[in-house]
Amino acid sequence: MGRTEQELIDAATGVRERAYAPFSGFKVGAAVETESGVVVGCNVESASYGLTMCAERAAIFAAVAQGMQRISRVAVVADSEKLTAPCGACRQVIWEFGGDIPVILSNLEGMTETVRMSELLPRAFDAEYLK
Ligand code: THU
Repeated sequence: MGRTEQELIDAATGVRERAYAPFSGFKVGAAVETESGVVVGCNVESASYGLTMCAERAAIFAAVAQGMQRISRVAVVADSEKLTAPCGACRQVIWEFGGDIPVILSNLEGMTETVRMSELLPRAFDAEYLK
């Protein structure tokens, strides 16, 4: 049986607590679903602001390090009234490992919305162009 959206949201909500965001105060958690399980990530900031790593890429890079290179869904959780969608850099990386997959957006009030990657990143550049 597959995982529910709520299980992915719960995983992202849990890891969000571990975010290191002393500069923005904006904590984000992400969970990516792979064939071999769920991998999580949180945002990590630096006093050299530009070095910040987003939750989504942290989760995907951890999945790759654990041997999973395909993701089937992503959940993103932040404490924002307007649901937080992945930044442009993360959209490109999600596309790299997932293509046109569902992205579940949620906040701490329990609002959720699921969007597809093709809505977030139309006409994505990917390995197809390099053939
Ligand atoms: N951030 C994420 O981790 N994911 C997003 O989808 C949006 C932005 C982080 C980066 C930075 O640490 C903070 O949120 C404010 O931009």
